[in-house]
Amino acid sequence: MKKIHLLSEEVAQKIAAGEVVERPVSVVKELVENCLDAGATDVRVELLDGGKRLIKVQDDGSGMDREDAALCFRRHSTSKLATEEDLERIATLGFRGEALASIAAVSRLTLRTQDGADDRGTMIEREGERLVAVTDIAFPRGTSVEVRDLFFNLPARQKFLRSGSSELGPVSKYVTQAALAAPGVRFTLVHGAREVIACPPVMTLRERVFQIFGKKMVDGLMDVAAEEGGGRIEGLASRPLAGRSDKTVQYFFVNGRPVKDRILMAALNQAYAGILERGRSPEAFLFLSLPYADVDVNVHPAKAEVRFKDTQLVFRLVLRAVGEGAARGHTIKEVLPAVGDKGPAGRVAEEGAAWTSRGLGFGPIAADRFAPGAGARPAPGTDWTATSADVRTAKGPAVLGQYENMYIVAAGEDGLLVIDQHNAHERVLFEKYREIDRERLWPRKTLLIPPLLELSPSAVVSFEANAALFEDVGFRVEAMGGRSYALKEYPDLFKPEQAADIFLGLLEEAGQKTAEDRREHMLATLACKTAVKAGEPLTREKMGYLVEELFKTSQPALCPHGRPIVVRVEKSVIDKGLGRRQEGVKPTFCSKR
Ligand SMILES: Nc1ncnc2c1ncn2[C@@H]1O[C@H](COP(=O)(O)OP(=O)(O)O)[C@@H](O)[C@H]1O
Ligand SMILES: [Mg+2]
Repeated sequence: MKKIHLLSEEVAQKIAAGEVVERPVSVVKELVENCLDAGATDVRVELLDGGKRLIKVQDDGSGMDREDAALCFRRHSTSKLATEEDLERIATLGFRGEALASIAAVSRLTLRTQDGADDRGTMIEREGERLVAVTDIAFPRGTSVEVRDLFFNLPARQKFLRSGSSELGPVSKYVTQAALAAPGVRFTLVHGAREVIACPPVMTLRERVFQIFGKKMVDGLMDVAAEEGGGRIEGLASRPLAGRSDKTVQYFFVNGRPVKDRILMAALNQAYAGILERGRSPEAFLFLSLPYADVDVNVHPAKAEVRFKDTQLVFRLVLRAVGEGAARGHTIKEVLPAVGDKGPAGRVAEEGAAWTSRGLGFGPIAADRFAPGAGARPAPGTDWTATSADVRTAKGPAVLGQYENMYIVAAGEDGLLVIDQHNAHERVLFEKYREIDRERLWPRKTLLIPPLLELSPSAVVSFEANAALFEDVGFRVEAMGGRSYALKEYPDLFKPEQAADIFLGLLEEAGQKTAEDRREHMLATLACKTAVKAGEPLTREKMGYLVEELFKTSQPALCPHGRPIVVRVEKSVIDKGLGRRQEGVKPTFCSKR
């Protein structure tokens, strides 16, 4: 018996439609992309019941003449692509010519359009595959598409739609993305009677972020940019010490197209290792431009995925953009309350006399921070932690001495800097190791008598999972049967007798991390293990070297684990506390009070 037959056109259309149109947000996305491709400056999206009853998208773009309006519903009809070569350089958001065909196949659709050539506009009404009517209408230049009763002819699909309010979520997220990508375009999203998004046109991304997310977020963002090999990245991302506790505000765009991309996410994460406090994630709005030939957007009908020809380049661009942004420390300055504000520093200045009696020398807050067990991490913006900005303005702080064999005290431009010697050295080494690792230049040394290590079962698991990474950084370890391992080579950064302990320490920590930041974490741990310890006396020469190197790093304010490195005691606080005028202190011996 013959079993194979060709599907009817109608069934085939519905199957194809299902690839492009999954839920209301996919319809909105395709229609808004068409508006932008048509050069619109005003895009308005209206929904009823999360788009299940109605999705209406209207623009003031180029519009279509009658002939094009009739043609645009045919599958593979597009004005954006003609030859196969065009596929190699896709500059428009759409190009597959299947969105309108697909949407029309699974809804009741009304198109209104006018191309500005004459006053006569066209209205086309369709129901699924059926053309219902073509009518002359009066209509301004532009296009409006109304999509009613999505999946009315595909009940199986309709059942998978969620409640109206749940369908609204992704739509507003998408319109947000579109609005971020095109600040010069007015975007409006209306749900029922409620205006969900209203963004008048603005000049810059920063203004657009302000419109959507508000002032607080904008203040926490720095400009980032980098360029390399025909690629370019720019945008806004969290300042050092800012960020948030979740990853919900990370927007990526590739050649103007919003994308969700694992490589970009991983690169961002890595770029912020050591710039944010532990447990904080960056906010980011990153726009990557690549030559059209170097990125493939034609991976999936919904076009939300991209493929990069050179993923390493993408990684480097993100790392450099963020790293350089963070290093231009001045950007952090505004987030810190100035002395005299209601911040702790301000209060100290006012209560000046009260604390001199404590006899701790550096003011109460600084002293508290010296105390063992004191919270090592102040809230971001707390004035007592110097940021890169503060630190950088100090022209080569001069080392004054060591305090408690833990802290280096130095004279900065506007006050005293108290530098945690261990954290500072950790930061210096971390950046060195990162460089060595990037160049794959780990110095290796053979152990003449390889120590035999008996690993715990969990250490064995951790080692197996990270064997390649250990090998990369210079640890050559050989399995000797059972849980015995011989350490044959180690990175030549410390004494041979430390090698086994450091290896075991790394092993213990390596297990706890996700794959993407494991490498970074390994370098940070290695830096921690090889840095000078708290309690170690240092020569003035060594301290001078350390301070100098610290200020050459990209982030002198935070160690790679996100702990602060420097506390600054502002001169104005010292002056006030001792009853001296701030400006022009005269050489008196006793201040009149
Ligand atoms: N809002 C619009 N304004 C002007 N032309 C449009 C609009 N929407 C669709 N079109 C025309 O209809 C064609 C088909 O649209 P679509 O099915 O989305 O395919 P694609 O966008 O991939 O070309 C487009 O190439 C464009 O010429
Ligand atoms: Mg399209």
